Amino acid sequence: MSEIILLSGSPSEYSRTDLVLQYAGTKLKQEGYSITHVSVRDIPADDIFNLRFDSPALKELTLLIQGADGVIVGSPVYKAAYTGVLKALLDLLPQDVLAGKTVLPIMTGGSPAHLLAIEYSLKPLLSALKGQSQQGVYFQDCQIDKKQVGNPIIDVNVLERLKKELYYFVETVNRKRDYVL
Ligand SMILES: Cc1cc2nc3c(=O)[nH]c(=O)nc-3n(C[C@H](O)[C@H](O)[C@H](O)COP(=O)(O)O)c2cc1C
Repeated sequence: MSEIILLSGSPSEYSRTDLVLQYAGTKLKQEGYSITHVSVRDIPADDIFNLRFDSPALKELTLLIQGADGVIVGSPVYKAAYTGVLKALLDLLPQDVLAGKTVLPIMTGGSPAHLLAIEYSLKPLLSALKGQSQQGVYFQDCQIDKKQVGNPIIDVNVLERLKKELYYFVETVNRKRDYVL
């Protein structure tokens, strides 16, 4: 069974990014993929801000990512880029932690103004870690309803875009897995 990691860069307790990742995870689970959801909030802040490379939580996360077939990385836009805490966390992981991994970048933002943050901020970061990024999906806050159980995405167009990206994501993950076998 292919392992997919959902990595959320939102420090928010009630996070739209997390809701979108959970929705994607549910869809992939229905297709038989094994899903693990990790948030920056799950890693002790002390470990991140004291640069503890030997932190057990970070070692565990590294092993999870290295053992995965694909990773979906989600982040809210903060001041026109990914969150600082996501960067601080990724700074502590090995520089090639995403080597050979298919990665689907997802961002949520309050306005359409930062639609390209995926292109100019998140993708270059993922590529520096040797990840192979899919196109990605950007959600505006008005397209996500936090109160809607099951599927929080209320805009049909962006929902279609996400479904298409998930299709391409699993297609790439499966192709790579078959090639390795
Ligand atoms: C500190 C901070 C900075 C933000 N900066 C931006 C920004 O530059 N551009 C934007 O479109 N939205 C910005 N937002 C809005 C968030 O990106 C948006 O509400 C997002 O959906 C929050 O995701 P979350 O609920 O997963 O944390 C900012 C929000 C916060 C809290």
